[in-house]
Amino acid sequence: MENKSFIELVKHRTSCRTYDPRPVPREHLELMLEAARLAPSACNKQPWRFAVAESAEVRQRLVQDTLRVGIEMKWAGNAGAIIAIGVVRKGMVHKVGTKISGVEYPQMDLGIAGEHLVLQAEELGLGTCWIGWIKQKPIREIVGWPKSIEPMGLITVGWPASNERKTRPRYSMDEIVKWV
Ligand SMILES: Cc1cc2nc3c(=O)[nH]c(=O)nc-3n(C[C@H](O)[C@H](O)[C@H](O)COP(=O)(O)O)c2cc1C
Repeated sequence: MENKSFIELVKHRTSCRTYDPRPVPREHLELMLEAARLAPSACNKQPWRFAVAESAEVRQRLVQDTLRVGIEMKWAGNAGAIIAIGVVRKGMVHKVGTKISGVEYPQMDLGIAGEHLVLQAEELGLGTCWIGWIKQKPIREIVGWPKSIEPMGLITVGWPASNERKTRPRYSMDEIVKWV
């Protein structure tokens, strides 16, 4: 694996939707989860939870029963692993704090942790894709989470089937940044 600088890694990552169905080594998944575990969070509440589906049976159930119609996502079944991500809303910070400030801390925290995981995968040469167009209830049932964990998405993880990367456009700096 060639060593990329952080910005090169970020530039190289694109959502991967074609996978070679080879399994993802457990150590790779553990390293990705470790990167997520160390993410910052509001008041260090660490509201993220992860459920890792490695077996073909659970992956297929997730693909068949939890993806919403309207976006073609059958490709997700070829990814060697699918990681469900969920949040636990905890105490004052998440319930009262969010109401007072209007800032959705648990979702922000989960997004940060999820992207740590994704970028660690990228460094390992793995492809990933966030999936937010999901049905929450069947995810909870399939992975066996209690009601206190709210499924927020899936992240597919696997070996990219080709080196081709489809780069999606981004807004220019001028469109998104104001120096004040
Ligand atoms: C929170 C979130 C939800 C997403 N949901 C889906 C999804 O349901 N299906 C899908 O194919 N891609 C999904 N994506 C991937 C985006 O379409 C993709 O990140 C975006 O188009 C930019 O392309 P890139 O990741 O290749 O740079 C999601 C991405 C994020 C961050």
